[in-house]
Amino acid sequence: MDIGIDQIGFYTPNKFVDMVDLANARNQDPNKFLIGIGQDRMAVADKTQDAVAMGINATAEYLDQVDLEQLGLLIFATESGIDQSKSASLFVKEALNLPANIRTFEIKEACFALTAALQVARDYVRAHPHHSAMIIGSDIARYGLNTAGEVTQGAGAISMLIKESPAIIALEDGHASYSENINDFWRPNGSPVAMVDGHYSRDVYLDFFKETFKEYLAQTKLTVSDFAGICYHLPYTKMGFKAHRIAIQGQDEETAKRLSDNFQLSAKYSRQVGNIYTASLYMSILSLLENGDLEAGDRIGFFSYGSGAMAEFFSGKVVDGYQRRLRPGLHKRMLQERTRLGVGQYEDIFTEGLENLPENVEFESDANHGTWFLAGQEGYVRKYQQK
Ligand code: CAA
Repeated sequence: MDIGIDQIGFYTPNKFVDMVDLANARNQDPNKFLIGIGQDRMAVADKTQDAVAMGINATAEYLDQVDLEQLGLLIFATESGIDQSKSASLFVKEALNLPANIRTFEIKEACFALTAALQVARDYVRAHPHHSAMIIGSDIARYGLNTAGEVTQGAGAISMLIKESPAIIALEDGHASYSENINDFWRPNGSPVAMVDGHYSRDVYLDFFKETFKEYLAQTKLTVSDFAGICYHLPYTKMGFKAHRIAIQGQDEETAKRLSDNFQLSAKYSRQVGNIYTASLYMSILSLLENGDLEAGDRIGFFSYGSGAMAEFFSGKVVDGYQRRLRPGLHKRMLQERTRLGVGQYEDIFTEGLENLPENVEFESDANHGTWFLAGQEGYVRKYQQK
């Protein structure tokens, strides 16, 4: 039985900073950000777009096509949690009126968490054929103003429906996992921004890629030329490009060109949005599907990395007619219609986002009609509304 991705919804907030503006404000050569880091723009979430609101928006995109009677599981993957105890998924479930009888919870392992959710969802569908699972990854990447990591921030969410006979990607059997307890990136309780050892995290990412890719090829007896493309977790696009260069080492010209072209297509949305942590790999997959020209049966490799650190390589095949399930026009409009912030405006929004919310507060939203947003807090309980 094929199990995999049947729907993909994507959301990123309506504001961005241009990397040339940021480079100029930070006295850096713009080419360091555009070429050296590989980012053009960075999404900025204002206080009305927290992880929950973005997750609701990504899911609302395809909800009218879900058979809710078959939905049995809802998992919310995030490292931008809004509560130490209660799952973000319960807010989503209420906002979108999902059935009361589903199993639902939040899951965490840095940027690996949405892959963990995907594998749990896949096992769930295997054990409960005819049932489906909804998985959401939603994050705001925050390193701090004037830090080396600032250029690798971003915000957004991906929501996916996992079911049998999927319409977009059928996952293949097999996976190669690798983990170690290390301190490359973490966010201690009470800190609104991540702690990171940037160059170390870059090196570990590449070590974990080599380890899992080699193991996956040995396990499945596949060769690099069997892949139409490989999608990577993209904390910034240059990071994935470094892993891509390792993958194509020693390959024939045709394979190297195919994987290189598809890498660039997979990085298109990330260049515009920045790091969305847990959902970054899945935004790369969406970017390749919506901007590329894949054929039914094409094999895509997936490299998932979560700091701390946990990595996994796995693969899937593109399903015949997948294009009919995608909404590239909607996503391109969402990216194009964003407001360009001056660096001062971004700094104000960023600084406001670091503050704890008071017990009672109300927010207005400047997002488009139909967008879900955090409308405030009453007695420390967050309230979500649709505009
Ligand atoms: N023109 C073109 N390129 C230039 C340039 C210029 N004028 N100036 C510098 N560059 C290049 C450098 O040569 C370098 O390229 P290479 O990596 O290919 O050598 C690149 O720009 C970056 O330069 P630096 O390493 O000097 O940059 P930096 O010290 O400012 O730090 C960073 C970069 C480590 C990525 C930092 O932004 C950071 O810490 N980011 C957050 C951490 C992160 O994303 N880690 C990734 C792995 S961890 C992970 O994946 C989980 C997660 O989501 C966080």
